[in-house]
Parts: sequence; structure tokens; C-alpha cells
Amino acid sequence: MSVLFVTSEHAELLKSGGLGDISAALPRALRETGCDIRILMPAYPSVLAKVRPITIVAHRKGHGAIPPYLIGATELSGGVPLYLVLAPTLFQRDGGAYGGPDGRDHADNDLRFACLSLAAAEICAGLPRLGWRPDILHAHDWVSGLAPAYARWWKLPVRSVMTIHNIAHQGLFPYHRMPDLDVPPEAFSLDGLEFHLHGSFLKAGIYYSDHLTTVSPTYADEITTEPLGGGLHGLIGGIAGAGRLTGIPNGIGEEWNPARDPYLPAAFDAGNLDGKAEAAEVIRTALCLDPAEGPLFGVVSRLVHQKGLDLVSEAAGEIVARGGQIAILGTGDPQVEAMLLDLSRRHRGKVGLMVGFNEPMAHRIIAASDFFLMPSRFEPCGLTQMQAQRYGTLPVAHRTGGLADTIEDGETGFLFAPADAEGLIGAAERAFSVFADKDRLAAMRRAAMAKDFAWSGPAKAYKALYARLADDGSSRSA
Ligand code: ADP
Ligand code: GLC
Repeated sequence: MSVLFVTSEHAELLKSGGLGDISAALPRALRETGCDIRILMPAYPSVLAKVRPITIVAHRKGHGAIPPYLIGATELSGGVPLYLVLAPTLFQRDGGAYGGPDGRDHADNDLRFACLSLAAAEICAGLPRLGWRPDILHAHDWVSGLAPAYARWWKLPVRSVMTIHNIAHQGLFPYHRMPDLDVPPEAFSLDGLEFHLHGSFLKAGIYYSDHLTTVSPTYADEITTEPLGGGLHGLIGGIAGAGRLTGIPNGIGEEWNPARDPYLPAAFDAGNLDGKAEAAEVIRTALCLDPAEGPLFGVVSRLVHQKGLDLVSEAAGEIVARGGQIAILGTGDPQVEAMLLDLSRRHRGKVGLMVGFNEPMAHRIIAASDFFLMPSRFEPCGLTQMQAQRYGTLPVAHRTGGLADTIEDGETGFLFAPADAEGLIGAAERAFSVFADKDRLAAMRRAAMAKDFAWSGPAKAYKALYARLADDGSSRSA
């Protein structure tokens, strides 16, 4: 079974959120099952700085306004082959995967990610110097949504899977740009990639792929409903009805293991949690929190509307009044950052904020905290609530998407609904009661730490899906 995995992030090379984690961990886990999976992503400067040597395997001429580009090949740790799209005018820029250092999206993201998708389709078509073609094209999120579309328009002999990590990001671009991206005119319609007079890269992926997946069973249901379907619930409902939508929860990698975590001041495990207390001391000092006996609530998050941090701000007064403290690490929307900065100033010594993307600190806060706040308005899967449970840190989370699927209310964490401050305060109060009952706290921590979030389970589910699609494909062409 050969698979091309098309993504815009990879945790070892460039990561802004969960997609980076998944792109690193899932291919590795699939290779362990014998699947010949290879990754394709853009050659951002941080990628080129980390992977060497690169062998050029193709010079492509570009299409429409997409400039000529090269495809390079190299290998990642664990022996996963990595193909890179080398298009200096598109990808050699300062900043992150999607925008410049000011955080604003690049104006030509349509060209940038159409180029990524084009390269994917050309690999599926077969590049003479590569000598490899996938049976399955696996696209992730809007950034690679055009890949299954090109594959369909060019009638390539490949089966495609589209995974939605977050339907809130659809990659919408003005319709007059579509010819520049080599989109055939007939595809710009309701039965195609048109969405309210824009071209939608995500809809392209959903519409033209053979199978759709998303990252938890509950979110798979939610995206067929109007409130959480991003305007695509009708289309997705039809696909679900035809048995072509599957929810497969993510896992977390071995780097999330408190017994072997180089970022912690001391290792710990379910049998001995002394190291957890040491981590709490480190975090209290680093975030200027007062020495305290009460519970520490952690937040590690992109600071965006989705994550519901305004609810943390509303609930903080109550948490602090009951003797709790809050340690926050995150980066993102300047308005959310400003709101949290204001919160930390109002509760000096009780609410600590660190702005930035900082992996060691993420591990330390998750290890140090007693409880982990996650009032996300929606959450396709969420990784941090799994990371938290692995470290005996009990999530306090909105009952939605992957949070509902990976947290057992009253056993390994606290779920609440609807997503409002009252709900969060109620769930936090339950957490305070458990904190006061040491036996109950210990039992919940043990249950949380014993949960199986290994990637081997999800990898098996993807492999079975690939096999089913490949079989379907061969029976169709037979
Ligand atoms: P999302 O992908 O929506 O951001 P997830 O929970 O799926 O949310 O994944 C977020 C990932 O990014 C986790 O691995 C988490 O530990 C990490 N992370 C989030 N914010 C930060 C940060 N400020 N610094 C370091 N790591 C972070
Ligand atoms: C998205 C979602 C998050 C999910 C991640 C990886 O960023 O917001 O819930 O865990 O993708 O699938």
C-alpha cells in the first residue's frame, strides 16, 4: 500500500498547531504497519534549514499563474521519505506556514497552496525520475484541498482521502482567481468548488475526494449540522449518508511521556507524582505566581476565538477566589492576547501569562497543572486534553467534538455544556471538590494516565480505510 500524505506543517520542521503533530506522528505509525507512506509539504525556510541533503527529482513547468517549481526528496527521522515543493517565490518567506511575521495571511495563499496540490497531483500522475506512484492520495485541510480535485480533473488512477482537521478554515478565494489556478470553468459551480461566489479549497477536497475523514466521531456528526458545518453541512451530510465519512480520533506521540520527558525538572509516573509537584514549583516561579497550596489550572493554546478563552477570563475571578491559580501559555490573535494580559494584571500572582510558542514550557505547564482548562467552542479533536491526561492533569472541557470522545466525565476529567462561563465555573467547582478529596483525586489521575492514546490504534483505522478504498478502486477499474 503506497500513500502520499500532503500537509502544510510537520512538528519537527514547522508547526503552528495539531496538524503539525499529526503529520509527524501518523506517517511514522503507518510505516510501522508496513504502509509505504511518504510526505509532501512546502519547502519553507525552516524546513530547508533542518533537512539536508535534498535530491531534486523533478523540474515542473507550473500551470496558470502557478510558477515553475522543483520537487526535492529527502528523509525524515524514522526513515519517512519527505518530498518538498521548492518554489522560492512562494515559500521562501519569513513568518509561519500561512502568513508573514505580522501574523497576517499572505495575499497569494491561493497560488502557494494550489502549487502544493499541483505537485501532489503530478506525483500521483507519475514522475519519471521518482519511480514511485501512490495508490492513495491523502490530503489534509484546505491547504491541500485542490489535490484530490486535480487528481479527479486529470482522471488519475489514484484514490483520494480528504481529512478535515478544522472546518472553520476553508481557503476561500475570489472566483476570478480560479483560472489562474488551472481550475476548469465547469468546476466553478455548486457541483464543484464554488462556495458563495468564491472558490473553496476545502470544498474542492470534500467534493472531489473518494472518502472524507475527520478527527473524531463526534465532530464527524457535528459537521453534518448547521451550527458546526461551516455552510458545508448539506454536502457533508450527503457524503455521510453514502457511508463516505469516517471519524478517526488522533493520538499523541511518545514525546508526551512524563517518565521520559527531557523538558521536566523531574520525571514522574502514575506510581509517584513527586515530579509533578516539582514542575508546579518551576511554573509558579516562571510565571510569577505566588507560592500556594490550592490547585493550578493550566492553559496551553492557540489564542483564537475557537478556544473560548473569553470564558476563562470570565471564570477566573471565581477560580482565584476559591484559592486556585491559572497558568497560561499561548500565542495568536492580538485581541485575545490583550484580554489575557489584562486578566493577568488584574490577578497578579494568581493568573500568569506567557505569550509565545514554546514547546518546553508547553510540556512543563501540562505536567505542572492539576487541571487543564479547555472551554473550546468547538474542537475537532484536540490534542492538549490527551497530553494533559497522560500527565495526570484532569481536563475541564466543553462537551464537544474530540473533547467529548476522549475525556470521561467524572472519571478522567470534567465536561460541561453549553459553552458559557456558568458551565465552566460549575465544572471548575467539581474540580475543586475533587482536589479536596485526595483519594478521589488520586483515582482520577490514575484513570487519566492509564488511558490509551497511542497512535497505533488510529494508524490501524487509516490503514484499513486505505485498503478498502484501494480494493474498491481495483474492482471499479476491473
Ligand atoms: P489546535 O491544532 O487547534 O491548535 P490541538 O490541541 O489539536 O489544537 O493541538 C495543539 C498542539 O500545539 C499541541 O501539541 C499543543 O501542545 C501545542 N501548542 C499549542 N500552543 C502552544 C504554545 N503556545 N507553545 C507550544 N506548544 C503549543
Ligand atoms: C485542528 C483542530 C484540533 C485538532 C487538530 C489536529 O487544528 O483545531 O482540534 O486536534 O486540527 O487534527
